[in-house]
Amino acid sequence: MTMTQITLSKPDDMHLHVRNGEALKRVIHDTAKQFARAIIMPNLATPVTQVEQAQAYHQEILQALSDGGHPDVDFHPLMTLYLTDNTTAETIYQAKESGIIHALKLYPAGATTNSDAGVTDITNTYPALTAMQEVGMPLLVHGEVTDPHIDIFDREYVFIETILKPLSKAFPALKIVLEHITTKQAVEFIDNAADHIVATITAHHLLINRNAIFTGGIRPHHYCLPVLKREEHRLALVKAATSGSPKYFLGTDSAPHAQHAKESACGCAGMYTAFNAMELYAEVFEKANALDKLEDFASSYGANFYGLPKTEKQITLKKESWDVPHDLPYATDTTKESDEKIIPFRAGEQCSWKLY
Ligand code: NCD
Ligand code: ZN
Ligand code: ZN
Repeated sequence: MTMTQITLSKPDDMHLHVRNGEALKRVIHDTAKQFARAIIMPNLATPVTQVEQAQAYHQEILQALSDGGHPDVDFHPLMTLYLTDNTTAETIYQAKESGIIHALKLYPAGATTNSDAGVTDITNTYPALTAMQEVGMPLLVHGEVTDPHIDIFDREYVFIETILKPLSKAFPALKIVLEHITTKQAVEFIDNAADHIVATITAHHLLINRNAIFTGGIRPHHYCLPVLKREEHRLALVKAATSGSPKYFLGTDSAPHAQHAKESACGCAGMYTAFNAMELYAEVFEKANALDKLEDFASSYGANFYGLPKTEKQITLKKESWDVPHDLPYATDTTKESDEKIIPFRAGEQCSWKLY
């Protein structure tokens, strides 16, 4: 029997970039429509390294939600702190106390957008990691090495071998999320790791492979980090996401950048999937004959990992084609409005599921 409609508890996006200022005001509503909660990445231009900054950012997000004419929208931002070489154990204890901070994010210095303040040597973070292990605060990992001698398509795999495996041995009880996984080696690592070592998977890494970066010419809107990989890796991700294993859950890594910043001689990394996220995931699960596994992947496993209750709200997805707009309004100047655009994933093409 083919399913033409599915209702699930309102899902959680466990890896999301919403920026701040005017950009935040434009993008947050897309996520609030689709998701009940989201883990908010701390890589603002000024990274969110301190508890007070996370509190201010939390307030800014709540304000943006109510200013956007959705005062009743029941969306909860789950805040994170940006781990640096100097993060203290005291900061971890404060973060735990805050009640709004749910994880620390590890960016190897220079690995991705706004990661200049990232970690230069993992051993510098040992005091913080010790405290995190103690209080049960998860570590979220952008898992790519930054050594320019390592081929860009191998950076995740090399990170797992040289950093993540030793790290998980040094901190055997530390909760770890390997974010936005892209390779069969990452799936193999997660499958064989302890139960508290898990992974998020994006819609775009499930839908397209690295050919999509070069279809008929260079496609900057298909450039993200970690970069898209070969088809065999995409297939391994689809298998993991639709397997019913609680070790894999939804994290869009929706990462908005203005059109001009993407369509440039040195374009930014990141795809904007917040606009049609659940439609995209539904398509993947349908193609894999696994629509019955979508709710756990999107609404349960992430919440369980973070110790959050299941949400009461629901969403419905219907099998119905619709046209994705060519662009959406955006603004990069964090202080004033502008008529910049953002190009959503699948812009100008169709989605086969629609969110209601
Ligand atoms: C993200 C961003 O733009 O903030 N970009 C991306 O390509 N995924 C950063 C990240 O998640 O690595
Ligand atoms: Zn990342
Ligand atoms: Zn990200």
